[in-house]
Amino acid sequence: MDLLTQLTASYQDAFHTSPIHVCSPGRVNLIGEHTDYNEGFVLPAAIDKAIYLAVGPRSDRQIHLIAHDLQETYVGSLDDIKPVQTWADYILGVVAQLRLAGHEPGGFNCVFGGTIPIGAGLSSSAALENGMGFALNELYQLGLDRITLLKLSQRAENDFVGAKVGIMDMFASMMGRAGHVIKIDCRSLDYSYAPLRMDGIRIVLCDSRVQHSLVTSEYNTRRAECESGVEILKNFYPEIRSLRDVTMAMLDLHLRDTNPLIYRRCAYVVQENQRLLDGVTALEADDIRAFGQLMYGSHEGLSKWYEVSCPELDILVDIARHQPGVLGARMMGGGFGGCTINLIREEVLDAFTSLITAEYKARTGKDTYIHVCKIEDGTHLISPATGHIPG
Ligand code: GLA
Repeated sequence: MDLLTQLTASYQDAFHTSPIHVCSPGRVNLIGEHTDYNEGFVLPAAIDKAIYLAVGPRSDRQIHLIAHDLQETYVGSLDDIKPVQTWADYILGVVAQLRLAGHEPGGFNCVFGGTIPIGAGLSSSAALENGMGFALNELYQLGLDRITLLKLSQRAENDFVGAKVGIMDMFASMMGRAGHVIKIDCRSLDYSYAPLRMDGIRIVLCDSRVQHSLVTSEYNTRRAECESGVEILKNFYPEIRSLRDVTMAMLDLHLRDTNPLIYRRCAYVVQENQRLLDGVTALEADDIRAFGQLMYGSHEGLSKWYEVSCPELDILVDIARHQPGVLGARMMGGGFGGCTINLIREEVLDAFTSLITAEYKARTGKDTYIHVCKIEDGTHLISPATGHIPG
């Protein structure tokens, strides 16, 4: 039985009615890391690993949730929504934010499950938040557009779950388009789609299978370090609002000698924004080789200057870069574990997979998981009968 059929069966078993179905994908990011909360650029895409939700209305004000993969339930009321420190918070947070914004969904049932590996840095939480907001918007005809919904997801994560993440993950999951990357300006939220013309090249994720406990605290520290760089520079350039307004010349002049740590953090961000712009130009020119080199540069910056990598991610990139047919590799997402993203020529895919699996094991004692990704549409309704978007 496929996952959607299982979710439907579980829904009908528990609630004796028929649900609507929403597919909400995880994301990859080709380049532009730790730039979103600095009002910079990112280049993500939605992937063919997703959270699937079966959702239906209730006539009372209760919320009944079933996490199919974990076989856990949550029962609560719309009138008493507070964090419970479990997966339910990603859903409750969205409901709380909808209500804070003046929208009133009724009670509902939800069974969800998914194919996004948890803890691999592929944004399963953003996918769940988006999927829930999208489903409630459909179910209760709230009339919200996608941008409003994804901003609600971010607020749910920031204010309810308590993770001060940027907008990239929600944006990519909600706005993804099959076969395209999205260039997002995280200052204005302007965005455009660029076709990924990568004939014969596959996007391959290598999961380090580590997730260091540092991830949240260090993420917040990096945010604070970037903000303090901006604060120092404001003394010299009062018009500056974020690292988006900062140049390497400013950093060299005012931070390099006086505050080397803040200098390295800020310089990484300024350079990563430039790498992304150069990367978009390379993609437009079909120059995947040049794009791949920028990915290596991004990893180097994340590892040495921004210091959000870990030995396992560095080893995965190091193994990859010495393999024939690998065009680029770098750590992806927040860091301290999760996956690397690699651009690999199709003909070497099998050889690459066996080699990196064996060598990673030899060098770290750990197993890696390899995921080959397709770029798919963002959050959408599906019909379980056809697997297609209805209407
Ligand atoms: C995590 C956050 C994103 C972004 C990345 C780093 O995935 O959720 O908002 O900051 O880290 O690019």
